[in-house]
This record gives sequence, structure tokens and C-alpha cells, in this order.
Amino acid sequence: MNPTPQRPSNPLREGLSNRALPRPCNVVIFGASGDLTYRKLIPALYNIQADGDLPATTHITGFARREKSDDSFRTELHEAIGKFSRSGLDENVWNEFSTRVHYHRSEFGSDEGYQSLAERLNKLDEESGTAANRLFYLSVSPAEFEGILIKLAQFGLNKTREGSWSRVIVEKPFGKDRHTAHELNEMVSRVFEEKDTYRIDHYLGKETAQNIMVLRFANAIFEPLWNHRYIDHIQITAAEPMGVEARGPYYDNAGALRDMVQNHLTQILCLVAMEPPTDLSADSVRDEKLKVVRSMRLMSPEDVAKNVVRAQYGSGSINGKEVPEYRAEDRVNPKSETETFVAMKVHVDNWRWAGVPFYIRVGKRLPKHSAEIAIFFKETPGVLFNAEQAGLGPNVLVIRLQPDEGISLRMQSKRPGAQLCIESVKMDFHYGTSFGKPSPEAYERLLLDAMAGDATLFARRDEVDQAWTFIDCIEHAWHQNPNPPPMHSYPSGSWGPHAADELLAADGRAWRRL
Ligand code: BG6
Repeated sequence: MNPTPQRPSNPLREGLSNRALPRPCNVVIFGASGDLTYRKLIPALYNIQADGDLPATTHITGFARREKSDDSFRTELHEAIGKFSRSGLDENVWNEFSTRVHYHRSEFGSDEGYQSLAERLNKLDEESGTAANRLFYLSVSPAEFEGILIKLAQFGLNKTREGSWSRVIVEKPFGKDRHTAHELNEMVSRVFEEKDTYRIDHYLGKETAQNIMVLRFANAIFEPLWNHRYIDHIQITAAEPMGVEARGPYYDNAGALRDMVQNHLTQILCLVAMEPPTDLSADSVRDEKLKVVRSMRLMSPEDVAKNVVRAQYGSGSINGKEVPEYRAEDRVNPKSETETFVAMKVHVDNWRWAGVPFYIRVGKRLPKHSAEIAIFFKETPGVLFNAEQAGLGPNVLVIRLQPDEGISLRMQSKRPGAQLCIESVKMDFHYGTSFGKPSPEAYERLLLDAMAGDATLFARRDEVDQAWTFIDCIEHAWHQNPNPPPMHSYPSGSWGPHAADELLAADGRAWRRL
């Protein structure tokens, strides 16, 4: 066995613990002519190289059906990196990077295609003198998973020689409900062991999401207050001005609840609500997150009617530009009943969070691209200052996931002058200015972790199953109920339907203005 090298102390690359270094490997991207490859995966791999973290002798092979040569693929990637890389394009880095990139044209079900892939990967291993480590990235629709997995197993690509590894990264959606997620996981588990299966959730790779645990467990001042005694409620928001773009067929079948809440927002909620893990290993962290998902109160149809608001965007204006209603989007059913906005109140029924509502809000065609967690603390007693100047307002700790990643704390302060006037002020920490460097993109971090064999920031099978159990109750109340709650509408460019405001107003609260 090769000893596992430890990462040098590059602060941007240190993880939650002292992680192992990424190992040289052959990365194979299935669905390499898709959008994700151009916008995210290749720019991420390029930036890993630009930062000097891509292990020498790592190769990247794009596997797709379209006719292309290595050279034409490289030309497309060159353009994509120019457009989408966070650090821009440096021709010197590109020259080195491009020699590592290859294109493999094949149908997903072709024996010949996998046979020649195996030969190609072996040859690359021989030429570079590296261990036969493989990282397969399934950036394809779930309908293609089975065919690809069967072929990988048939040609022995899921197994590799002693001391090497073969892993698979699976993109969401992980199913459409608990049942289909189970089938999908069963299918993957027939070919790859759970320890080699990496279910990617790019929200977990966001720098500030990783910082939630550091904020909570590396500072003495927050954790004692982090419970129902001091916290009034928590708001988690993910807003985006974009509509469904070119993803009509997928999105119209999924909706905001499955697209964002089942995965990203549930994962974030878990990081906020979990107990301290016993250590920073992947399983200890994921064990704690699992306990949170298990504590999320399942809703009856009556609870859903009371606690969940769904809505679809109408036409409107985003950044001064007129945009069409959802039903008029490309390849969306003109009578679609799919939600593009969800607001909900979630209860986490455990000792720490009893009685503290978590409000979640997510939507497309909202005014801003913004994701944040806001922790509202309880107000001070209504004596002294809070008696003299009623409604001082609570302390609010805001963790900004994007844009302008950072953390701020709202508190009360005396305005200078002879009179006693109290005003809210903000202590603010911005990643950009404090560390003087842009944060790595989520995909950079996650790809590196998969190469290093660290699954902490990937969803485990039982977490995914349990999250679906929660979501299925809501989907059931919407779609298999003689009396379903209404589908509201909101103009594009607004903050959602009035019903979302009423949800909080009924509890004497309001959404934070972003
Ligand atoms: C994806 C969803 O997982 O996340 C998209 O499928 C959504 O619908 C996207 O637009 C949002 O990601 P981010 O990082 O821009 O907030």
C-alpha cells in the first residue's frame, strides 16, 4: 500500500481536518459535451491546476456521444475556461492543462466504447507511470446511469488493482422520491461500494457552508447560545433571478422542492442544527447530519396546508428586462403545475431545537442571486432599554453563502450624542477582504476531495433516503390529496407570493430583507 501523503499547509486547501492529498488519477466525465462540463467541471479542474493542486499525471477524459476530436474538444474547453473560470485564463496554465485533456467518443451502451476506454486509461497509466486510480463523473441524466454502470462493471472499470481505487461521483437528482432514490442507490451499490460513491451536493462545497462548522465549533461564543433557549428562529434563503433557462424538461418534472430543498437546503439546515461530531471524519460528521434529518418533523396534509407555500412565477421584470411567465418557458408544459418557489416552516424535534422554527425560502425569478442563513436570537427582556425604546429588534447572525461570502452580526448600539437613541449596527466579515483572495468554487473543493478520498462534503445514502421521506410527505399532500393546497403565483422580480409573508406574519415574524 502506498502511504497516504498529507496535504501541505496551503490554507485554501486545508479541509475541516488534516486531509489526505488528492491522488493522481484518471478522471472520466460521462456527458462531457453537457453544460456542467463547460461551466463548472472543466473550469474547476483548470483552477485546481492553476493553484498547483492538480496532482501531476492526472488526466481528464471526456466521454460523450458527439463526434469530436481531442483537438476540437480542447478548443471548446479553451473558450469555456475563458468564459467561466473564476481566475480567468492563463495561456501558460492552459498549455500544460490541455495536454491532460482527452476526448472519447462513444455511445453510453457500446461495448466497443468501454473496451477502448479501458485500453486508453491503461495506456495513460503506463505512460505516466501512475497507479490505476479512476474517478468516474456521471454528469448525465439518471436514465443513463444504469447503462453506464453496467458497462463499467462489465469491463472491470469499477475495480482496480491492489492499492489503487475506482470511485464514482453521482450528480443530483438522486431520484424523484424515496422509492426511486432507493432504486438508484441500489443500482449504484451493485457496482461501487458506498465508500467509493460520492453524491455531490455543490452547496456543501461552498466556502461559507464549510465555515458553518468552524464558526460553531472553533469559537467559544456561539455554541452556548446555539439552542432553543437563546434562538428565536432561523431563516434559510436561496434566491436566484434566473428562470429555468434550458432545463425546462428536467425542472418541470422536479420543481423547487425536489430541485433545491431535498438536497441543498436540507444539507445546510443540517450543518446549522447538528450536534458537534466526535471527530472530523466523514462518517462522524454525516452521522450527526443524519440525526438532524431524522428529527425534521414529518408533515400531514393538514400541516402542509398550514406550513408550506408553493408558487409559480408569472411574467415580470428582472434587472429591467421583461421576462415571460414560467408556463411560457422553453419546453415547459403550458399548463404546468410545477412550483418554482417554496416557503416553509420546518420543526426539528430534538432537545436542542424544540420550539424553534426553521423557515426555508427558495425561488427562481426573485430579485437577487443570494443565499444566506439568518439566526434570529431572542430579544432582551422588556426592561431597561427595551422598555424605553420598544422593539429594539433582536441580534441577528447572518451567514452569507453567496454572493460576497461572509458573516455579519447585527446588534444594538447607542447613537453618539446627548440623547439616548439606540440603533442597530452591523459587525461584518467579508471573505474577499479578510483573506484577500477569491474563494475556490464549490466544484474545485469537491473534486479535490473526491480525488483525496474524503467524503465528508458528500451526501451519504441514508441521509438522502431520510431527506426524501420528509419531502415525500409534502409532495404527497400536493399531488395525491383530494384537497391540495393552492398553487400561488408571483410576478418575476418580486420576493414571492404574499402567502409566503403571511406564513411568517402568522407567527409574528417577517422575512429578512435581502
Ligand atoms: C442547482 C439547481 O442544483 O442549483 C438549479 O438544479 C439552481 O436549479 C442551482 O439554479 C443554484 O445554485 P447556486 O450555486 O447558483 O445557488
